[in-house]
Amino acid sequence: MRVSEILPLLRLARPPAPYGAKTLARCYSIEDVARKARIRLPLGSRAYLETGGEGEYTLRRNRAAFDELEFLPKHPVDVSHVDTSTTVLGQHVPLPLGLSPIGSPRMFHHEGELAVARAVRSAGIPYAISTLATQSIEDVARQTDTPLWFQLYVWGDRGVIKEAVRRAKAAGFSALLLTIDTTVRSKREREKHAGIELPTPNLPITTLLEGALHPSWAWQFITSPTISFPNVGPPDQRSLRVISEMFDGTFTWSDLEWIRELWDGPIVAKGVLRPEEAIQAADHGLDGVIVSNHGGRQLDHLPATIDVLPEIADAVGDRLDVMIDSGFRRGTDIAAALALGARAVLIGRAHLYGLAAAGEAGVRHCIDILAEELRMAMGLCGARSVAELDRSLIRHRPPPGPTDAAPARDRVQSSSQRGPVSSP
Ligand SMILES: Cc1cc2nc3c(=O)[nH]c(=O)nc-3n(C[C@H](O)[C@H](O)[C@H](O)COP(=O)(O)O)c2cc1C
Repeated sequence: MRVSEILPLLRLARPPAPYGAKTLARCYSIEDVARKARIRLPLGSRAYLETGGEGEYTLRRNRAAFDELEFLPKHPVDVSHVDTSTTVLGQHVPLPLGLSPIGSPRMFHHEGELAVARAVRSAGIPYAISTLATQSIEDVARQTDTPLWFQLYVWGDRGVIKEAVRRAKAAGFSALLLTIDTTVRSKREREKHAGIELPTPNLPITTLLEGALHPSWAWQFITSPTISFPNVGPPDQRSLRVISEMFDGTFTWSDLEWIRELWDGPIVAKGVLRPEEAIQAADHGLDGVIVSNHGGRQLDHLPATIDVLPEIADAVGDRLDVMIDSGFRRGTDIAAALALGARAVLIGRAHLYGLAAAGEAGVRHCIDILAEELRMAMGLCGARSVAELDRSLIRHRPPPGPTDAAPARDRVQSSSQRGPVSSP
């Protein structure tokens, strides 16, 4: 064969990059985007993004638990139309997804929440901003018309919290998330090794010097306003004190009384891992719970959220919306959670990797990857709608052990005896 005959068969041009962003070319999975993010970020920001609490058992468990689940697809089903839309907290959304609240996202990209809010506008999904957001409630609200939720740390100075809730309501936020798993600040050793001490955004000089190795991040960091928390107060000593005293462990269900006086919209408890806590939330008139272990960043040696989800969903039925986060990186993870009783899945680091890698385009790219993978998982499972994702589609992988040594015929038999998952 001559060279002139081979040439037309070769694709010499680079494949087109989504959104024209060179960084995102060839990023087909969240892990691909995470690799780009790790290259762009200096050590301090990387440690803040990826750390878990103490020995990071929970962090690892969040991922390992998905490897213990398998699908049992239904065939043949006409899946030429797969509908991923659903209703969350009374609002119709095109995907059963939302973005988890994140403190100090400007550590990853100079635009922080503004870039994320623009990305969710095109995706049409809810976005929760943190009490420790680095952009103001009002500026974020101007970027998007999709549902915005405000996450509250209900500790410390109640006056500051009340003012933030008032502003969120005035700006049109549609739900409040009360984070209940941060009563006490946890020990995150990766952050300590990197010399950062959050929530105060004080990057050590070593991170800034190391910035020389991460010029794009460093340039944006030094040419942008200093990171502050405009929803807690002006960048002064008082605000820093409020933030450092934020985790004082004084929240109880009785706080709901004064919160209800300020807020008449949906309220959600974030950080629920026990069925009876979800029942209490329903008894107190809450509209939702988020099954969360804070992405493995708080108490170590917690169960993976996917493992406790079925019991919690069974305990509350449809009294409130059960959502989940922690460890979700694939469309199959999301499909499994929906099948096991979640109404929606919130995405934490999986959108931060996009933010760190390429700002707004990066977040959009990550949402697109997850949406596409979810659509594919639903189609391959024979689920034409979110409602058709049910527990019969999931089973636990047989534990490794004596069965591994048994003849293949016996292995198949013993695994099929386990049947669909009813509880973890
Ligand atoms: C860098 C970072 C900052 C976070 N800040 C907050 C916060 O301010 N408030 C909060 O309720 N949760 C916070 N979380 C927890 C997330 O909302 C969410 O529960 C967690 O990231 C989910 O796990 P995943 O990252 O594995 O998806 C933070 C998580 C990360 C990674």
